[in-house]
Amino acid sequence: MRLSDPVMVGGEITSGVLLGSGGNRFDIRDGLPNLVFPFELPRADRDALQVYEDRAEVYDRYLPLTFSTYGEDEQAVRNAMIDKLNLRPDSVVLETGAGTGRDSEIIARRLGPDGRLYIQDLSPSFLARNIERMRGVDAKVEPALANGYYLPFADNSFDACYHFGGINAFGDIKRAFAEMARVTKPGGKVVVGDESMPPWLRDTEFGKILMNSNPEFRYPLPLDKLPIEARKTRLEWIIGGVFYVFDFEVGEGEPGADFDFAIPGARGGTHRTRYFGQLEGVTPEAKQLAQQARAKMNKSMHQWLDEVIREAARRDLGD
Ligand SMILES: C[S@@+](CC[C@H](N)C(=O)[O-])C[C@H]1O[C@@H](n2cnc3c(N)ncnc32)[C@H](O)[C@@H]1O
Repeated sequence: MRLSDPVMVGGEITSGVLLGSGGNRFDIRDGLPNLVFPFELPRADRDALQVYEDRAEVYDRYLPLTFSTYGEDEQAVRNAMIDKLNLRPDSVVLETGAGTGRDSEIIARRLGPDGRLYIQDLSPSFLARNIERMRGVDAKVEPALANGYYLPFADNSFDACYHFGGINAFGDIKRAFAEMARVTKPGGKVVVGDESMPPWLRDTEFGKILMNSNPEFRYPLPLDKLPIEARKTRLEWIIGGVFYVFDFEVGEGEPGADFDFAIPGARGGTHRTRYFGQLEGVTPEAKQLAQQARAKMNKSMHQWLDEVIREAARRDLGD
């Protein structure tokens, strides 16, 4: 990115424009670049943003009810979620949808002088309150006004990534998980939680009362939105059992396994040859003859077929 038209006050850039390599322009206002992308947000995100902008003022006043309704201690619950990040004093951490900073403060207090916390949110009003709250902590804190499913960070930037309370309403939940995995280093932890009435409680009076008062409990558990890089994935139901928390370690690509050992038995082959070595099929008579022949030769079906096909192919190719 390139900086254009900077205005400096007291050695700090207060306004200007960041120019992306693809020609995108990101305005800097009050010292904070607006990195929200796409520039035209989908309707669902615009609506959610409006709700959050309207609620920023009262959010901290009513939020404790989310915990006290179930007799839960908010600090204990948030600390237990943050424990799952396995933070060290020098960790570099990203919190997406950080809101007014109720978790940011706890995370920041666990970091030492070499640690760093990036607080990201879509709502300027929430982020402004978070920045204000972070003035009271010693750790280095960097705000980012951005979209949680288009993160403005390079791959493998963070030791850990945390999100609580907003992802259900993100316009693209799968992309949000993929982005968190992308920006977290392999071996780093991702922790994500939000509300969702567990399927087995949806028809109970308990479930119906809560879903009636707060339709957000109707959001399904986003199990199918987890990224392929998720390893050692765990799911816990917290806060009265009506909020999910996923935590996983970030791996690289798909998980691996030994697909190449010889599977004992008459069929033989390996997991890989069974998957990739499928042919066009044979008539029932040919199959029966092949089974008799492989038994007579005391070979597995894989071994017999592999040899017969190689032999026939070499012959027909004139090798
Ligand atoms: C219910 S609040 C939770 C705030 C905070 N994590 C907490 O636990 O108190 C949800 C937050 O997600 C933010 N948010 C909503 N959509 C977002 C998006 N697409 N990208 C990033 N943040 C988003 C909202 O602005 C809001 O701050």
